[in-house]
Amino acid sequence: ALERTLSIIKPDATRRNLTGAINDRFEKAGLRIVAQKRIQLTRAQAEAFYGVHKERPFFGGLCDFMTSGPVVVQVLEGEGAVAKNREVMGATDPAKADAGTIRKDFAENIEANSVHGSDSAENAAIEIAFFFAQTEIVG
Ligand code: CMP
Repeated sequence: ALERTLSIIKPDATRRNLTGAINDRFEKAGLRIVAQKRIQLTRAQAEAFYGVHKERPFFGGLCDFMTSGPVVVQVLEGEGAVAKNREVMGATDPAKADAGTIRKDFAENIEANSVHGSDSAENAAIEIAFFFAQTEIVG
């Protein structure tokens, strides 16, 4: 089915000027960027977005990292977009990611892993609504 997923290009990637290179991976995989904006996350936004992880030992460091520079939040659309995006990203830990994936090729480590992507269609709807009004998404 035609789906939408929420993607974030993280501060380690914007810092190294990799926004275009990462978008090229998405577009070559058949994902369409139907909404996109470059923003500086506030601490409150980072903590709220990653709220499911708040008891994890990496939560504080993750929020520090995600507010350390600009991110690009985007909505990707395509057939099976949630799974396709996860395939293109590769495993969370770049050391475990398959060859040719974004994280294998660009990520610095398990925290500074260049991209975020929704893990289910249900979470995609929640995460898209966190950053975008319906009027900002143009399919
Ligand atoms: P993401 O897919 O955005 O979801 C949670 C983020 O936490 C993850 O990518 C990493 O950036 C970060 N993180 C840091 N340490 C870990 C860890 N040990 N396991 C999972 N995620 C981690």
